[in-house]
Amino acid sequence: MIKKGIILSGGKGTRMSPLTKAVNKQLLPIYDKPLIYYPLSILMLAKIRDILIVVNKGQLEQYKKLLPNGKHLGIKISYVEQDKPRGLPDAFILGEKFIGKSGVSLILGDNFFYGQYLSEKLKQSIKVKNGARVFLHKVKSPEKYGVAKIKKNKIMLIKEKPKKYFSDFAITGLYFFDKNVVRYSKELKPSKRGELEITDLLNKYKKKNKLSADFIGRGGAWLDTGSISDYYKTSNFVSAIENRQGFKIACIEEIAFLNKWITKKHVKNSIKFYGNCEYSTYLKKLIQ
Ligand code: TTP
Repeated sequence: MIKKGIILSGGKGTRMSPLTKAVNKQLLPIYDKPLIYYPLSILMLAKIRDILIVVNKGQLEQYKKLLPNGKHLGIKISYVEQDKPRGLPDAFILGEKFIGKSGVSLILGDNFFYGQYLSEKLKQSIKVKNGARVFLHKVKSPEKYGVAKIKKNKIMLIKEKPKKYFSDFAITGLYFFDKNVVRYSKELKPSKRGELEITDLLNKYKKKNKLSADFIGRGGAWLDTGSISDYYKTSNFVSAIENRQGFKIACIEEIAFLNKWITKKHVKNSIKFYGNCEYSTYLKKLIQ
């Protein structure tokens, strides 16, 4: 059972500059809450309670103002600073101590997931013992992503930003790895762009026949909020769903409360922390 998760929440945020010059992307709002709430909620839905957040050097204090140690959510949050973006597998090198001898999940801080049966799929994925699992989603422009070719739910080929078309399935920013991930990550060499590549890491598992895939499915959404246009699309998506249905996406206190990790008293403290806002009104209703 995978019980630990990492949120990769640093990065340059070049595509969103100047918005990201003074504030880290993951602290910017997606509609009514900071972006980081969304990947955090996914790990919590997977019942992962021990979470490491990788942040850019110098930004720890800002993050801690928002998400201190996780006690208010009945989870444990710790932090590690990355002095420069060395690529996604760097998360496992920085997180070596945190990971220890267990398996670990990784979610990118700017990825948004939503959909039916997602919680169920997540609970299945944390059972991965020997190998790695990725989540795939059909996209219109696969050349922008890491792409996987599938045959009978098995991954035949993976490539980063392929110039020549071979599949519509993008590899999303949610991964589950066994305990070998630290060792494999340390063996990687930086690519031409000077980063450790997640595709190279996944290929190590694939070569050993230990890479499996699950699908978000057409009833679900995966949005990468990395560019300005995708960022606002995600924000509009959340606004549309929340205003229509009256419940919130990624309300982390709600997830913790429904998981029975916290009591009404904790929720009341969060209401005090947030102050008089719509988010607090929602929390008040939750414990009524
Ligand atoms: P990217 O989308 O690759 O990069 P970025 O967010 O820095 O944006 P840009 O390309 O516009 O410069 O990163 C995906 C996520 O992973 C994002 O949330 C930032 C995070 N990240 C790190 O925390 N450390 C890293 O070394 C890298 C490469 C990414």
